[in-house]
This record gives sequence, C-alpha cells and structure tokens, in this order.
Amino acid sequence: MDSIRIQGGVALQGKVRIHGSKNASLPVLAATLLVEGRSFIENCPRIADVYSMVSLLKDLGCSVYWQETGLVVDSTQVKRGEMCREAVTGMRSSLCLLGALLGRCGELVMEHPGGCVIGERPIDLHLTALGQMGVEFTESGGRLQAVASELHGACIRLPFPSVGATENVILAGVAACGDTILEGAALEPEIRTLCCYLQCCGAYIEGVGSSRIIIHGGRRLYGTAFAIPADRIVAGTYLFGCIGVGGSVLLECAPEEEMASVLSAAVQMGGRVCTSPEGIYIQAPGRPGPVKIVTAPYPGFPTDLQSIVLAVETLGRGCSHIEETIFENRFRIVNDLRKMGACIEEAGCRSVAVRGVPGLRGARLEARELRGGAALVIAGMMAEGETIISGCPYIYRGYENIGRDFRELGARVTSV
Ligand code: UD1
Repeated sequence: MDSIRIQGGVALQGKVRIHGSKNASLPVLAATLLVEGRSFIENCPRIADVYSMVSLLKDLGCSVYWQETGLVVDSTQVKRGEMCREAVTGMRSSLCLLGALLGRCGELVMEHPGGCVIGERPIDLHLTALGQMGVEFTESGGRLQAVASELHGACIRLPFPSVGATENVILAGVAACGDTILEGAALEPEIRTLCCYLQCCGAYIEGVGSSRIIIHGGRRLYGTAFAIPADRIVAGTYLFGCIGVGGSVLLECAPEEEMASVLSAAVQMGGRVCTSPEGIYIQAPGRPGPVKIVTAPYPGFPTDLQSIVLAVETLGRGCSHIEETIFENRFRIVNDLRKMGACIEEAGCRSVAVRGVPGLRGARLEARELRGGAALVIAGMMAEGETIISGCPYIYRGYENIGRDFRELGARVTSV
C-alpha cells in the first residue's frame, strides 16, 4: 500500500477519533528502559515510528508486546547498549534512546540517527548537555560511542529549547547521581508527558511544564500503567484538512488544551471552532481566509503543521505568509502544489507567500516526508479530479491510517 488515490472535491462530514501521540509515546517507550518490572503504555499509536521503536527495544533485549490498545514493555533482560545500524538509521527519534540507555547501561554504540552530526538536524545540543553529565563521546566509522562511567547531575542551560535534548537530559537525569538543573528546557506538552510517566514510576522531578526543570536523580523506578495523550499534530492535520476541504468535523479526544496556537490560526482562517469534553468541533468556512504564520517552539505554532496550512491556503481568499523558523527544508511540497495549480512565491528558504487560487487540479505526486505527505493528501482532497500520491510509507510514520480516517469523514480516498 505505497500509494494513495484521491478523488477530490468532497466536503468532510462526521467524526474521527484522534489516536495517541507519536512524539509523546516515543520518549515514554525509551524511558521504559529505566524502570524495573513491566510498564503498560496505553493508547500507543500503531504507526511506523512506534513499530521501529519496538524493534529497537527488542533488539536491546526488552520484552515488548501489544495488548489491546497498548504496549507492555519489560526491560529486565537489557544488558548492553548497542543498537543495530538498520534500526537506527533514518529514525531520529531513536535519539531519545541516548539518555535512557546511558542511564541504564552507562554506555552505548549507535549510528548517527537519521543523518550526520553537522548540517541538517545536528545533535550537538544533546552531546554537549550529556557531556556535562559525565558522558564521553567518540566517533568511529560513522558510529557514535558513548561512555558514562559516572553519570552525574549537572547545571545545564540549553541555548535553544530542543525537544529531543530536553528529553535526553531528563532521561539521563533520573538515572544520574545527584540533581540536574535544566534551564532553557523545551515546553512542548510531550516533555510534560514524559515527566509524568517518570513521576508515576517514582521519579522526583520539579518544575514540570516549565523551562526550568530539576531532576533529583538516583531513585529506583518501577513499572506502571500510563496512558499516552491524543496526538495534537494529527488533530491539527484533520482540523486544517476540514478547513481546506470544507464541511464540519468532530475531532474526538483532540487535546484542545495543547492546541491554542493551532485553534487561533484556524479561527483566523475562518473556521468555527467549538470545544467540548468530547473533543474539538470544526466547521469550515467557504474558502479559507488568509493567515500569517511563524513557526516557533511551543506554545508557538508547531512546525509540524506548517506544510498542512500551506496546502490549505493554496485555495485561500487572499495572500498568506508562512515563515519557518525551526527546520530548514520544510517547504519541500511547494513544487508539488505548483503542479496542482497553486501560486506560491518563495522568499529565501525560510518563508513563502501563498496567493490563493480558485481551484487546484489533481496530479501525480510523491510524498517525501511525513507532514509534507499528509499535506499532499489534503491538497488532493481539495483538488478537482484524481490525485495519486506515492511514497506513503513516510505518512504512516506518524498517522495510523490517514486514508481510513478521511474516508470515514466521507472523502474518496483509497490505498493502492
Ligand atoms: C521534535 C519532534 C518533531 C518536531 C520538533 C520541533 C519528536 C520525535 N520529534 O523533534 O516532530 O518537529 O521536535 O517541535 O518529538 N537542533 C540543533 N542541535 C541539536 C538538536 C536540535 O541544532 O542538538 C536544532 C534542529 O536542527 C532544529 C531545532 O533545533 O532546527 C529543533 O530541533 P528539536 O527541538 O531538537 O526537534 P526534535 O527533538 O528533533
């Protein structure tokens, strides 16, 4: 099922349940390495990145199996922190095993996750922070080796609130001797979730949810049952999808409290948003109103939803401006959208102006990354005629079944 075929032009109607969060479940699964006994991680999404994390954990010696809606993980048998090449390469989230494995085994050997250290998506913040906690890194033959003979607490200030580096410091910190004071921590809700899981296991962490987190290390942690919250990015994808395609949709279980910047953009675009204990209800305007978006660390507008808004605004009623400040190379769908008739001007590599056109036409496209791929699916539903998108395994990294979900809302989307 590598491709998705879409017949565009059908408004969305109905309700869809938002599955568990990818970015919360991955660090929590990594954290199970630090606890004694079994953990039951409920509401884990059945997505490719979680399957890869399960393989990595099994490869390290964990017992991992699905039980209904969750994963049971027992890391009792883990002895060595060596991860095989195939499992790590291409999955940057394997990076959050760094802190957990150093905490568990005091050493590790791994590929550089998903690319090289210098250049796109570097890992210097992780290495510097863990270095301050007594970890020594060496590199040979493209592999990263780390040894922490005495992992100890430290005062760490992150120069940028990296989500992954924050997670690694917390994971290493709970296992370290002494206290770690982390300043400049990322505020993303997934950090809070990781801390809550560790606290349920017995960790002593202060300042959860703030940019100054104090981790009192060295406590014994015990397995527990823990539920992963719904995925705010998946919820945002479907929310903006509804604004682009038209209709009205209930996003069941959507984590409204984590989505302020997203909901405010949706309202700016003309969406009528209501929140209730059931979830978020969105009713779309005709053509979306123009919007100005600048991506930023949480609570700013998430970079992961930038390409979705870009796709939606190709049919906007005016000119939208989108600026990307977190990742370079996140406008990779611009040429695909142009192929469909969109009018987009690039201003350097960090910002674009989108002039809404009255209609898009279906095209043959290729997904080349996770969120960009989801954006193309939405563009296909907004277009006249047929769109075929290849490369869909990228999309399955973060969406359980985007085709099924949109089909349930009435869209004509099939996997081929
Ligand atoms: C996490 C999310 C990803 C989201 C991103 C930003 C997971 C599994 N992934 O990724 O979906 O898009 O946060 O919200 O949770 N950087 C450095 N050096 C480092 C680390 C990061 O320069 O050592 C830079 C990155 O290149 C990037 C920026 O910091 O430009 C943000 O990265 P970071 O917050 O670390 O994102 P991830 O944890 O990789």
